[in-house]
Amino acid sequence: DAAEKGGYEHYMRKEIHEQPTSLRQTLSGRIDVERGDADLDVAFPQGYLESLQEIQLVACGTSYYASQYAARLLEEFADVRATVEIASEYSFDGGRDPWRTLVIAVTQSGETADTLGAIRRAGGAGARTLAVTNTLGSSVTRETEDSVFIRAGPEIGVAATKTFASQVTTLALLAVEIGRQRGSLAATDARAVLEDLRGLPGAVQQVLDEEDRVLEGAKRFADADAFFFVGRQFGYPVALEGALKLKEIAYDHAEGFAAGELKHGPLALITGDTPVLSVLTERSRPDETLNNVTEAQTREAPAIGVTDGTVETDSLDLELEVPDLGYVTPLVANVYFQLFAYHIADLQGRSIDKPRNLAKSVTVE
Ligand code: AGP
Repeated sequence: DAAEKGGYEHYMRKEIHEQPTSLRQTLSGRIDVERGDADLDVAFPQGYLESLQEIQLVACGTSYYASQYAARLLEEFADVRATVEIASEYSFDGGRDPWRTLVIAVTQSGETADTLGAIRRAGGAGARTLAVTNTLGSSVTRETEDSVFIRAGPEIGVAATKTFASQVTTLALLAVEIGRQRGSLAATDARAVLEDLRGLPGAVQQVLDEEDRVLEGAKRFADADAFFFVGRQFGYPVALEGALKLKEIAYDHAEGFAAGELKHGPLALITGDTPVLSVLTERSRPDETLNNVTEAQTREAPAIGVTDGTVETDSLDLELEVPDLGYVTPLVANVYFQLFAYHIADLQGRSIDKPRNLAKSVTVE
């Protein structure tokens, strides 16, 4: 067991640290930066992508948050309506021509019963289906027309970490591929996105090199009553994912909010013992988010922010830096949240790799 953890005390920390490698695997052989092309080797029928009317993503938990991130990328690059639904809530409505709706099941394990049920309903109603999974030969790959593998490598910790990063990255490639095919993404824009994706492993490594600062922050705030995570746009699913990690492994009360929603209710919960963690990066409306954070600080809340230098952040209690990688900067910010959750849980002596009441894959509906 110790050997398998490669010197780390927990699989989760090992898997967080594996991200530069797993992201390289995800990208390997799939991008041509100079030409601005991405190719996931999916055999869509001739003309299918051009005639596509809608993309629906179905998923649970962390995969659902990855899908929320991806839907924004799909809308941005592929000029197609993209919706996301929690798999257990999903029912397919594909209108008169269901085949023109592509339904994507996003599932690390490929065995999640809710997601399998959702994709079965979509396929049964005539939609075209695609699996985005980490697991070769998993059940989901037998339910769908096509499969794409995120290539993150085995993930043992119950808390998903490296697979979130690889899911978003794979779906970003799909968004580029579809956008190029549909003519909605110019080669120069695609090139810039692919450059940023190629920069991910290095950027994540820079965050990992700052782990001591995260540990210091975790020590400062480990006794908090609750943790609030806020973000906008691409920062919003990352806020939700950050909160889920803390809930799962630290058993602390944590909530993710769209930053603009704080003032519509949750602000009433803010005290000096509720740290607010925020994503303050470009393309995530950092100025407005910072205003929301300042409102929380006025109510004594400590503020921890992940920034790429686009806003003035002197007022933060703890500032964590990420390089600017365009659309995927919040994905890099997420690594700070993973480390934060890990250390808060570790300081409390939690059973990090096998949290109480949870299973790695949930095979009941
Ligand atoms: C993530 O940390 C959780 N353990 C959980 O939310 C998980 O993402 C969810 O159960 C979906 O799993 P899947 O990706 O294997 O379908």
